[in-house]
Amino acid sequence: MLTIALDLARQAGDLLRRGHQNGAVSIASKSSAVDLVTEYDLASERLLVEGLRSRFPDHAIYGEESGGALLATGPQWVIDPLDGTTNFAHGYPVFCVTLALLIDGQPELGVTYDPLRDDLFWAQRGQGAWRGQQRLRVSSTPTLDVSLLATGFAYDRASNADNNLAESAHFVTRTRGVRRSGSAALEIAWVAAGWLDGYWERGIQVWDLAAGVLMVREAGGLATTYSGRPWQPGDRNVAAANDVLHQALLQGIQTARQGLPALPA
Ligand code: IPD
Ligand code: CA
Ligand code: CA
Repeated sequence: MLTIALDLARQAGDLLRRGHQNGAVSIASKSSAVDLVTEYDLASERLLVEGLRSRFPDHAIYGEESGGALLATGPQWVIDPLDGTTNFAHGYPVFCVTLALLIDGQPELGVTYDPLRDDLFWAQRGQGAWRGQQRLRVSSTPTLDVSLLATGFAYDRASNADNNLAESAHFVTRTRGVRRSGSAALEIAWVAAGWLDGYWERGIQVWDLAAGVLMVREAGGLATTYSGRPWQPGDRNVAAANDVLHQALLQGIQTARQGLPALPA
């Protein structure tokens, strides 16, 4: 299953890379004016769904563009065929394809492919997290003041006062930097790789994170909700970091969120 997932992620990533090189992408919007979908989101999802269906006819599939629902039992693939659609639509060179296999609702394997850097990140439960053949380990950055973090802003940010501005303002002035790459799946993979020390976001979906949460854990880090409970599929917020920094990340989020409505634990 891992071999097939790696192969399909590469194929879908190649398709995205060619689309990026060709330019001229047709764009439509979804949940809000800033939530975009391109012809490449759809083509990449088609490729992944057809590839998985033909090899695993009994497995359920939950793709961002074709829909579905999380299942509590059995094998289920969750797919984000193009994470970083806004970047892609503008030609900004940061995007990826990411997919994960859940068994009875728990991430079993995850693959994230960055086609422009040819970085193939993957993890299998109990087998470590990897970039190609190289084993990944989270950073050992001990404190926020010397950390590099990443975050993102959900598509409801114009209509929802809980839009991550408070948390971002908090960390921008207390860290070496806060990045907003536009691809949640890459940011969390980069935490696993130790290139970022932590990542948080609210309003996130299972297909953005299922692969990356497994990578972070297999690389020795922690991935929880804002309340500190281990992240699981269906949770809409996440705080992922190296094991030393994670508590400070959670505390910062909680401090910054004072006055905002409590999120589901
Ligand atoms: C989005 C990206 C972005 C994050 C958003 C996601 P999409 O995914 O990962 O970085 O901030 O919350 O929805 O729409 O490009 O697949
Ligand atoms: Ca996404
Ligand atoms: Ca997407």
